[in-house]
Amino acid sequence: MQYGHFDNEKREYVIDRVDLPVSWTNYIGTGDMYGVFNHTAGGYLIYKSSEYHRITRFRPNGVPMDGPGHYVYLRDDESGDFWSVSWQPVGKPKEHFRCRHGLSYVRYESDYSDIAASQTLFVAMDDPVELWDVRLRNDSDRPRTISVFSYLEFSFHQVDMDNRNFQMSLYAAGSRCVDGVIEHDLYYEQYGYQFFTSDFDADGFDCLRDTFIGPYRTERNPLTVESGQCRRSFEKGGNHCGCLKKTLHLAPGEEARLLFLLGEGGIEAGKAMRRKYTQARADEDFRRLAAFWDAKLACLHIATPNPGLDTEINIWNLYQSEINVMFSRFTSFIEVGGRVGLGYRDTAQDAMMVPHSNPQKCRSRLVELLRALTTTGYGLHLFEPRWFEPVQEKQGFKSPTVVPVPDKSQIVHGLKDACADDALWLVSSVVQYVRETGDFDFMDEVVTYADGGAGTVYEHLKRILDFSAREIGQNGICKGLRADWNDCLNLGGGESAMVSFLHLWALGNFIALAERLDRQEDAAKYRRMADRVRETCRRVLWDGKWFIRGITADGRRIGTQQDEEGRVHMESNTWAVISGAADRAQGLAAMDSVYEYLFTPYGLMLNAPSYTKVDDGIGFVTRVYPGLKENGAIFSHPNPWAWVAESILGRGSRAMELYNALCPALQNDKIEIRESEPYSYCQFVVGRDHTAFGRARHPFMTGSSGWAYYAATQYLLGVRPDFDVLRIDPCVPADWKEFTIKRIWRGARYEITVLNPDGVEKGVRSIRVDGQETDALLPLPAGSVCRAEVLMG
Ligand code: GLC
Repeated sequence: MQYGHFDNEKREYVIDRVDLPVSWTNYIGTGDMYGVFNHTAGGYLIYKSSEYHRITRFRPNGVPMDGPGHYVYLRDDESGDFWSVSWQPVGKPKEHFRCRHGLSYVRYESDYSDIAASQTLFVAMDDPVELWDVRLRNDSDRPRTISVFSYLEFSFHQVDMDNRNFQMSLYAAGSRCVDGVIEHDLYYEQYGYQFFTSDFDADGFDCLRDTFIGPYRTERNPLTVESGQCRRSFEKGGNHCGCLKKTLHLAPGEEARLLFLLGEGGIEAGKAMRRKYTQARADEDFRRLAAFWDAKLACLHIATPNPGLDTEINIWNLYQSEINVMFSRFTSFIEVGGRVGLGYRDTAQDAMMVPHSNPQKCRSRLVELLRALTTTGYGLHLFEPRWFEPVQEKQGFKSPTVVPVPDKSQIVHGLKDACADDALWLVSSVVQYVRETGDFDFMDEVVTYADGGAGTVYEHLKRILDFSAREIGQNGICKGLRADWNDCLNLGGGESAMVSFLHLWALGNFIALAERLDRQEDAAKYRRMADRVRETCRRVLWDGKWFIRGITADGRRIGTQQDEEGRVHMESNTWAVISGAADRAQGLAAMDSVYEYLFTPYGLMLNAPSYTKVDDGIGFVTRVYPGLKENGAIFSHPNPWAWVAESILGRGSRAMELYNALCPALQNDKIEIRESEPYSYCQFVVGRDHTAFGRARHPFMTGSSGWAYYAATQYLLGVRPDFDVLRIDPCVPADWKEFTIKRIWRGARYEITVLNPDGVEKGVRSIRVDGQETDALLPLPAGSVCRAEVLMG
């Protein structure tokens, strides 16, 4: 069953049926102000911090679903009938409503009561101002009088206070409306103001939520809208809202346009922004927003025989990966902003995926991570980048909403809270960044450590590799510590196959870098380390048909042929291949086992059969319901690891089969099963051992996205930047005859056509540039164009 369609021309997903089983969300904003909104305008806006600077309130996981939001009500003043442009909260018959999720904007459309209306939400490019672009057209053959009411509910800035401490929040926030600008005043804070205004002279306003809604009513039938009368309410203290009213008289066919502006600052800021954001300026910003995404999407564009792959790579997968790099994890309908900061491993992986389209942000993320590395060589599992900024913003006054900066002694957690994988990801991310940009100088940049002192980026990387070499268990495999990539595998002093493989992969990348920098001594030292790790992995972790997942602290092997539960695991087997630890025969056998035990029509399960017996030696995974999350769900994030592994093994048809199974865009007609957005990878899809098999959960904020993008572009399509060449090494289904890739690399544009006349799955026979045979694609002056023909065979 389908609820909408991809409009790739406009780069939108159009929701034709708005009565979706769950909220389908999207993000607006590309900088400090951003927000998350669903298909019925439910959602919230924040400025910089989702924990300390919430602008609008949200009642998560609630009934009715996912509100309140940024709503526009329309009222027919003749009949008294009223509706919302975004269908909810009023909820008139659904066939009159649509939603278009675009890149950093959402548009709601209605055609109820012969009034065509739309409401577009997006954030201005240069200022922390959210714009609501509202348009109406009278499609009836008689003059109409329509009153337009905006509505949003302001939040106390600090979410925790807003949800728990009403004796504070209700008496420390006030509102007023002056010269058409509503001001929300967070009285305890020096600069705690929000404004809400419009580009027209309002006919009425309400700043008090309870006045707008009325007693014993909800957003579905607010008194102000039902009666058509604003009460010009405001007060010091209470719950505040932003309602501005405008009554329009529309002749048949006549159109009207209204802008609402929600932003940082008080009355004066509101007035200034009102002057600045005219309709022409709003149009300009909307065009600039499109251009912002044009530039990113142009960095890599493909045309292949697989429409699902094209839709993902050309639009949605890159978009989702960028959103992860920009905003990390804590603004969504799942994580609703009670936490902030960066998760070490997730951020390190995110930063590896889009250095071509967002090099500055990736670089600054890498620096943030390097600063959160301890001299011991492990990363701080969850941290706030500002803790380690050389110059911190001073807050010269005390207020309950001050953002606390804990003492260094509290920030730097000990080894007992370290995750064995966290910092290992960073090594490959840094190397990947250099491969993309050629920014070798970055290696010599001096960066502080979290617990004091400083060193070059290069030295930081060595400490990470040395840490993993030291922290090994009885069998020589890396200890699992608090967790490895799998949060629920808590091996402590037991050993994690995945971490040793990850160590080997990081070593491989680092050695390549050291060689390129001509630091031969280091290259030799770490080659010896890599040889040891590889040898130990092969000796200890191979189980005859696949690789085990680890060894508990009391010496039990996890994921063996004898196991009845948790027999085969995806992490260890895919990484055995990616790291180069597995020889070819082992790699083929291991990935065949992955396919045999873990493959489903919706992707690969993380492990199977799911655990049903609690085993604290293995970890929390054995306490998770079978088929959910880490216990046998189709955890999306590691699925691309299998595509990479299959590509390394040269099995293009298998790799694409696995790709297609997980591909959100290819599940657009299975929404009765999937339920969630088909334009976003979800953290997991419920596995076979659960009644809801196939149901996807937790969209957008997941490392699956970056990995899917990276694996598909660098391994399936095989465009891999290296220090001095752009490698082309596709691995595709045998029946792919031809595909094209346009890639911008270090400022030059590569237009690559790949031909596969012999129907092979891997292997490049020749590369021609402008008719001339060549060995490789080399860096070119910025602005130049290189037309290459790659012949597989
Ligand atoms: C979640 C976490 C991530 C972890 C994964 C597996 O996605 O954000 O850090 O690796 O779960 O447990």
